[in-house]
Amino acid sequence: MPEPFATLGRAARLVVLVSGTGTLLQSLIDACSDPAYGAEIVAVGSDRPGIQGLERAVRADIPTFVESLQGHATRAEWDHALTADVAAYEPDLVISAGFMKLVGPEFLARFEGRMINTHPTLLPSFPGTHGPRDALAYGVKITGATVFLVDSGIDSGVILDQRAVPVAEDDTVETLHERIKVAERELLVTITHQLVTRSWRVADRKVLWR
Ligand code: GRF
Repeated sequence: MPEPFATLGRAARLVVLVSGTGTLLQSLIDACSDPAYGAEIVAVGSDRPGIQGLERAVRADIPTFVESLQGHATRAEWDHALTADVAAYEPDLVISAGFMKLVGPEFLARFEGRMINTHPTLLPSFPGTHGPRDALAYGVKITGATVFLVDSGIDSGVILDQRAVPVAEDDTVETLHERIKVAERELLVTITHQLVTRSWRVADRKVLWR
């Protein structure tokens, strides 16, 4: 990541990828409304149409795009198209905020190192698409949220920060996930602000802040 964008005299350009209700996206939209936050969302993309996340972007006058896997003969073609969709907006940082697809090698070649993802567990525990369900089934007493740099694995990238969330005796997957998302939204907004306003680099799976 280059020098803080404030030193360049401009806001960092964010492209956010969503697949669902977009409450994490909404927290970023709200944060970016303050010029002091240091970032602007220049586009919101999804792998599927008609989701609330895209409606939130439209309401905020943010350009949107949809790149569905079904629209391509191969996953490689989808990966190529998604890479072009995102690159067209010249992002400084790509944020996966509930995006439910693994990006491919072409996308990573272009954006690895400046793409973050958020996951509703304390990684490396319970990666994959059912984190809160798996954590609840395992019987953990503390779970949480993780924001990390995307790499070629499944939720395996360098951890940027985490928040702990207690599991309640009477939790269901839904009540637990909603409690996690409260922490996840604060975590994502905080770490994104740090990434775009401070100098940082990665060494030995650690993020070093200057
Ligand atoms: C978040 O918990 C995210 O970590 C997970 O799906 C949820 C997305 O929530 N992949 P929303 O669509 O932002 O409300």
